[in-house]
Amino acid sequence: QVIRREDYQPPAWLVPEILLDFRLGLESTNVTARLSVRRNPDGNGSATLRLNGDQISPLAVRVDGAAVNDWRLDGPDLLLPLSGESHQVEIETHVNPASNSQLMGLYASHGMLCTQCEAEGFRRITFFPDRPDVLSTYRVRMSGDKTAFPVLLSNGNCESQGEGEGGTHWAEWHDPWPKPSYLFALVAGDLIANHDTFTTRSGRTVDLNIWVRKGDEERTQHAMESLKASMKWDEEAFGREYDLDLFNIVAVSDFNMGAMENKGLNVFNTRYVLADPETATDADYDAIEGVIGHEYFHNWSGNRVTCRDWFQLSLKEGFTVLRDQMFSADMGSSAVKRIEDVRILRSAQYPEDSGPLAHSIRPDSYQEISNFYTATIYNKGAEVIRMMRTMAGPERFRAGTDLYFERHDGEAATCEDFVKAIEDGAELDLGQFRLWYSQAGTPQVAVDLEHSGDRVVLKLAQVVPPTPGQPEKQPVPVPLKLALFDRETGQHRGEELVILDKPEQTFTFEGYPRAPVLSINRGFSAPVAIAFERPAQDLVFLAAHDDDPFARYEAMQSLVVQHLIAAVGGSLGEGARAVERDAIGQAFKAILADDSLDDLMRGELLILPAEGYLAEQFLVADPTAIHAEREALKAWLGSKLKDSFAELHDRVSAVSYSRDAAARGARKLKTQALVYLAAGAPADAKRRAIEQYRQADNMTDRQGALMVLAGLEGPERREALADYHGRYSGNALVIDKWFSLQAGSLHPDVLTHVQALAEHPDFTMANPNRVRALYMALAMNAKAFHAPSGEGYRMIGELIRQLDPINPQTAARFVPSLGRWRRIEPRRAAMMRGELERIAAEPSLSRDVLEQVTKSLG
Ligand code: ARG
Ligand code: ZN
Repeated sequence: QVIRREDYQPPAWLVPEILLDFRLGLESTNVTARLSVRRNPDGNGSATLRLNGDQISPLAVRVDGAAVNDWRLDGPDLLLPLSGESHQVEIETHVNPASNSQLMGLYASHGMLCTQCEAEGFRRITFFPDRPDVLSTYRVRMSGDKTAFPVLLSNGNCESQGEGEGGTHWAEWHDPWPKPSYLFALVAGDLIANHDTFTTRSGRTVDLNIWVRKGDEERTQHAMESLKASMKWDEEAFGREYDLDLFNIVAVSDFNMGAMENKGLNVFNTRYVLADPETATDADYDAIEGVIGHEYFHNWSGNRVTCRDWFQLSLKEGFTVLRDQMFSADMGSSAVKRIEDVRILRSAQYPEDSGPLAHSIRPDSYQEISNFYTATIYNKGAEVIRMMRTMAGPERFRAGTDLYFERHDGEAATCEDFVKAIEDGAELDLGQFRLWYSQAGTPQVAVDLEHSGDRVVLKLAQVVPPTPGQPEKQPVPVPLKLALFDRETGQHRGEELVILDKPEQTFTFEGYPRAPVLSINRGFSAPVAIAFERPAQDLVFLAAHDDDPFARYEAMQSLVVQHLIAAVGGSLGEGARAVERDAIGQAFKAILADDSLDDLMRGELLILPAEGYLAEQFLVADPTAIHAEREALKAWLGSKLKDSFAELHDRVSAVSYSRDAAARGARKLKTQALVYLAAGAPADAKRRAIEQYRQADNMTDRQGALMVLAGLEGPERREALADYHGRYSGNALVIDKWFSLQAGSLHPDVLTHVQALAEHPDFTMANPNRVRALYMALAMNAKAFHAPSGEGYRMIGELIRQLDPINPQTAARFVPSLGRWRRIEPRRAAMMRGELERIAAEPSLSRDVLEQVTKSLG
């Protein structure tokens, strides 16, 4: 069944208030919901109240205090005829949290109870108009066993609590801010808090708690610092202040996604809360800061202003991702953060945009909304808003967002409302720009530069490729920051912003007696793919001289991408290969020697383009050839520059642990040097990796060393893996790393290892983190996943079939890897397709998996 954006109808009934009463039990929870309902003057006047349900049945239905039986079920929904303008509707339901393996609605995790309601989980708790444009104020009463559930939490403020009979206790919570049902949350369990306070700019003292299972509280300090920094940053950067006296975060180890922004009660996957140097990598620390910020920023971009319907998901997600990216940029290195964000976009979103599941950031239809929590909605959504900011400049953009929050506070808004507010507040004409919301596909921009006399002519042309359901596209406005470098002085005359908004356009620059070197899409000002053929020397020049750090990174990437495309395509003779490798080697040397670079940035410049991104460059890719050429280049660099990498490894190994940028940069390079050495000088690398593993006083170093060892053959691999497992047994997040290192490794027997790991006592299908640790790592491991035997495809196919009945949302996340079949060489494509067909043939597939598989088969 397809839901369409154009079919939107305002709700017939509103629910200004709801009272929920939970009698909690792990295996049996009773829920009584009392809804004050009122006819919506803007609705269709229907006398029937539609309340959504999902795998629940009503134990009792009362209207205005009297039991009624004239209700009926329409599929999972409950329909109730009502005669007047407003009523009290009371419904009782019963759920079994312990058997809820989907982790949507109310479920149990390690003896605690918690909820996940976005997008449509609330209907698994009680019957309700479960749509984001129905806003209610919530009063929640809960009671339960005092020993099992000493802590009872919900949204807003706790207004009273007390003792009940038979060892029970209760609490009553009230959230003064009207909210949609997807922001409801309840948590009950034996938890301990890291407590702190934050004083807002207007003087409100907010109690902050991060709730975790006993023993984990030592690892919550970084999350707490991140939370306080987020609260301060949002006041300064967007003028947004917190609006309750209490802010609770709860960490849960069984969670489908990263985290959830429930009003005043954020629920987090433990992996985005818990960290200490011994068990969390620098990347983990960064992810925690980013996700804590993200969920906190939702308090305004998502909660105070919410979405009218789920087609508007990017309204809150795209904007909030932009806000968390800006926050992280301000907290650390903005250059490195920008590069990381672009890398994610290219490796996760570009493939989406060029595959069978392509959708615009504001989709027109869906079957299962959970499938639309995508890199397109989130990350491309953020890029689209970032372009508005680039075109308006920071001050005018801020005026636009101020107007947006002021205009729509307390409302359920649309993407169009956002664009209009930016248009009015930032004084920007976004007429044609709206196409970015409706068209899918990554615009391809062809660049050509001509020089004659002292004139430079820049020719730009754009094509937005066809995507499923959208055969024809219109040109979009593409804001491109550029600079023209003098090749002798290494200087330019200032950055310019040009806006390409036609299929083809020419821009002329005067006063250049020498042909300049063009630096374009600086800072990645537009989420497009640039095609610009140019000599390797120009890229070497930019990699060494560009004053825009992103452009410098980009030049390095292009240099390597150009080379690998030619190498994989077979168009590279041995002579040309040697010349190109030399150019890359020279660029690497320059980067290794450049004293003006900090190590974090140096690390970025030394990263080879991801295999997924390389595959995107081909209409039909041969993953094995891409992998082989990329590894060959890595080995060549490792061997050619082995002294430099060894020297580098020595230098950074002498830096002692701290969380400051210099020490983090050192750790990043430490493992990178190892990786190149492992490819080019394996004996030295093995010795260094063992040493690094043994000496490690932090997880970044230990994991980096283990990653290298896990790819090697011989007893060292087994010893290190066993040591690591023994050292961290009982720490689920680290054991996840143990699984994913092996499934993601370069070892020739990865598939056998994965098979064995699936039988390991620590493996369970019930925990999404563990499933992802093993199988997402495999699906992302191009060499193993695309093994010529088809074994990788078979394993992912089987996983999807086994996981679907347990957790359809997580199962559906694995379909896109097989869905790429059209872009893979024919022999493998047939096997990938075969797996999709095998899944499609399962008798009772979830809507989640069915939608993804059907669309992937096309
Ligand atoms: N709104 C959450 C976030 O981005 C994501 C929750 C999505 N959950 C889900 N089950 N689809 O922060
Ligand atoms: Zn979000």
